[in-house]
Amino acid sequence: MTTAIIGIGNIGSRLARELADGGEKLIVADRTFKKAQMLAGALGGNVDAMEVDDAIKSADVVVLAVYFDAIKVLLAEKGPMFAGKIVVDPSNPIAPDGNGGFRKIIPEDQSSGQLIAGLLPDGAKLVKAFGTLGAQSLEAAANRTPERAVLFYASDDAGAGETVARLIATSGFAPVRVGGIDQSIRIEVGGDLHEFGKLGRTVSADEAKELL
Ligand SMILES: NC(=O)c1ccc[n+]([C@@H]2O[C@H](COP(=O)([O-])OP(=O)(O)OC[C@H]3O[C@@H](n4cnc5c(N)ncnc54)[C@H](OP(=O)(O)O)[C@@H]3O)[C@@H](O)[C@H]2O)c1
Repeated sequence: MTTAIIGIGNIGSRLARELADGGEKLIVADRTFKKAQMLAGALGGNVDAMEVDDAIKSADVVVLAVYFDAIKVLLAEKGPMFAGKIVVDPSNPIAPDGNGGFRKIIPEDQSSGQLIAGLLPDGAKLVKAFGTLGAQSLEAAANRTPERAVLFYASDDAGAGETVARLIATSGFAPVRVGGIDQSIRIEVGGDLHEFGKLGRTVSADEAKELL
């Protein structure tokens, strides 16, 4: 199985490193190909750099590690390419508020997971994952001992969910399913299971079960 990470900024580069450390076969891609080449070179043998279109075509799982607005553009331009793929959405629907903070850019009662689900072609399987911790915690809490930190995920497709749960485990976290895509809002910024929401911290799998 091959996983492509599109966008190798704060989240994508950390995820790539953790999955590469776990031995996962990876493709990294970014708007700037040179950036992808440099990361692939640093991560070694199991990681290839490709242009975005080639990365999508070559992968079974595609992680869209770009901002919500950029995901919408990608899906508008390349939507049919995602048919048959497992698509992973780590996005939080926020943008800078001009005062050093962030604001939600969709209505309060909506989630980017549900909106992205509506933009995917038939046959694409969406999993909401890898967005419940900030980039710093995603790095610092990987492979935490004695109890791994949880990464929550949501999906309507059991097989796709299990595939991504395996990737979560490979990246050094405990996967916990929160439910279907309609539960995405709980694991996006401001949600009750997000580090930057009511939860406010990382949790173990036992703690997570109490919260579900
Ligand atoms: N940062 C966090 O702590 C955090 C936590 C949880 C979830 N998330 C979510 O994770 C996603 C990524 O966030 P991030 O902080 O990692 O963003 P980021 O640091 O801005 O990285 C995004 C990367 O993707 C590239 N990119 C943008 N549009 C692209 C396109 N159409 N095709 C290919 N590459 C493209 C960017 O290139 P340019 O620099 O040239 O634009 C950049 O290298 C967002 O949806 C965010 O909401 C972030």
